[in-house]
Amino acid sequence: MKTFISTPIYYVNDIPHIGHAYTTFIADMLKKYQTLRGNDVFFLTGTDEHGQKIEQSAKSKSKTPQEYADEISAKFRHLWDIFHIDYDYFIRTTDEDHKVAVKKAFEVMYQKGDIYKGEYEGHYCVSCESFFTQMQINNGKCPDCGKDTNILKEESYFFALSKYQDKLLNWYASNPECIKPEHKKNEVIKFVQNGLNDLSITRTSFKWGIGLPESFGDENHVMYVWLDALLNYVSALGYGASEAKMDFWKNATHIVGKDILRFHAIYWPAFLMSLGLELPKHIYVHGWWTREGVKMSKSIGNVIHPKEVTDAYGVDVLRYFLMREVPFGQDGDFSQKALIDRINSDLSNDLGNLLNRLIGMSEKYFEGKISSKTTSKFYQKELDEMEKILEKIPLFMDQIQPSRYLEELWKMFSFANGLITKYEPWNLMKENRIEETQGILGLIGNILAKGSLFLYPVMPDSAKCIGDCLCIGMDSNHFDNLISNKQLLEDFVIKKIEPLFPKIEEFKMPDIVSKPTKKEESLIGIDDFTKLDIRIGTIVEALKIPKSDKLLKLQIDLGEDRPRQIVSGISKYYTPEELIGSQVCVLANLKPAKMMGEVSEGMILASKDENGLSLLRIEKAKKNGSKVS
Ligand code: MSP
Repeated sequence: MKTFISTPIYYVNDIPHIGHAYTTFIADMLKKYQTLRGNDVFFLTGTDEHGQKIEQSAKSKSKTPQEYADEISAKFRHLWDIFHIDYDYFIRTTDEDHKVAVKKAFEVMYQKGDIYKGEYEGHYCVSCESFFTQMQINNGKCPDCGKDTNILKEESYFFALSKYQDKLLNWYASNPECIKPEHKKNEVIKFVQNGLNDLSITRTSFKWGIGLPESFGDENHVMYVWLDALLNYVSALGYGASEAKMDFWKNATHIVGKDILRFHAIYWPAFLMSLGLELPKHIYVHGWWTREGVKMSKSIGNVIHPKEVTDAYGVDVLRYFLMREVPFGQDGDFSQKALIDRINSDLSNDLGNLLNRLIGMSEKYFEGKISSKTTSKFYQKELDEMEKILEKIPLFMDQIQPSRYLEELWKMFSFANGLITKYEPWNLMKENRIEETQGILGLIGNILAKGSLFLYPVMPDSAKCIGDCLCIGMDSNHFDNLISNKQLLEDFVIKKIEPLFPKIEEFKMPDIVSKPTKKEESLIGIDDFTKLDIRIGTIVEALKIPKSDKLLKLQIDLGEDRPRQIVSGISKYYTPEELIGSQVCVLANLKPAKMMGEVSEGMILASKDENGLSLLRIEKAKKNGSKVS
């Protein structure tokens, strides 16, 4: 079957980091898995090079946007090449073919009556390249990334997204597999149910983008970068040109991070409907990686560069860690300690050891030549058990749960280690039970052979090494024979190889303990807030304290058996008379203190600026003693 798999195309405003590598590894894993299963896969990745953000970044580096894009795009491509990512095409949105396709799509949507001219007025986040209404933004900040938004007012063409609301809801409902995990699909459905505004799809306040088709005569407009970017998925297949590869589009899977789900699950299917093209079969949404619990950012200086990790630990190890550590769709935390734990326990102890034991025993007892001809005679029950485990493994990849897939695969390796402990081949040999020893080593060889085929999509180089050791290739023929047709490898020549996953004793990368920013240091958790017992109380008595021009002695009814005495420095701002009877907010669990010889059992809350002081009061009267939360 022809299958299309894509990563998002990466913005060229910054060099690749671990989040980009994660998305790419997932797509590469799917490509390798599908290829093993005999499917014809077109795997697309590339770079997203237009838009205001790139224009600004280039300017800040005193480069033209094109020079800047060339430089960073090459870095992405180079990294994927040294990571042996199996992409079939690396698209750049500055490619001429892509530009032609985008213009063509614009015309088709216009002909369809889905594009009209108007004026956009609202907020824009340059970092997310995203439009927001006044209602959506928080105090001028982007609701997605928290950065400042700009107010835009400019002539614009609009895409009639609102027309597609019901069609989209229908698509989600009738295609249960279209967005995974399920809770992400539900988020999208809720968003769409709340109503869709038409989408501004051209900009006039900057230049770095694809122009409109000449027939529009609107030279000052450039395409909205998300329209341009999303269309990469079909322009790469020749949309609008030869269309030679559009048959891959019938079975398309997108891998995206949770931050760009809305663009892929709402805008993109609506654009496709407008273009009369099929919708993707799957949008798989992954979570975000933090570093030791802190969001990665350039300003904190805690960004993980994938090459640093792979130079220290190897590409396969990083791939394994990222796939195994968190359930797909959830956020994950990267730390060297967690990485090393995985290497030492799963890779070294379970898998590496198993292979070493097989190599060692087959060499010692049979000069590296083992066979499974006698396995069924002595170990039929174990063979059945192996098949039972094997059957479950692919189900998890089909449901895009790589961590569960690996968990199941590791059950196979643990099972094999358990067989060695149980049958003790060294004792079988001592007792001259040669056939039984051959049989058990043949079984273990088969477990490793079958296991390596399943390991290949996640750890291609390590799986190939295991395959070399057992003389099998990581290809669809072997997958067919050993997995689909449940055949056993009969005769093995076990080649000795270097131990695969030596134990790691110490950190191999400098451990940047992420320094929280000033802003983060001053943040408190909800637990801290709940320590404060703030209550509503009525001032029932207020007296000046003799010899003090600042302090008033207040009696405040907090709904307790007697009023509280609170001494407060508000005498300059309020007369006793105007305070009596008024409700205020009181910090009720403050340690008592003495001021001017008077005990104070709490504090009333107020705010002060150059215009004076104002007590914190509540909008509607509340019972004395009501809690503020
Ligand atoms: N250019 C757009 C995508 C257009 S696709 C038509 C874009 N680019 S990006 O470079 O900002 O992000 C690309 C991918 O990297 C996204 O899937 C995003 O979720 C992922 N990651 C970026 N930081 C990440 C983490 N810290 N953790 C995991 N993935 C994250 O968005």
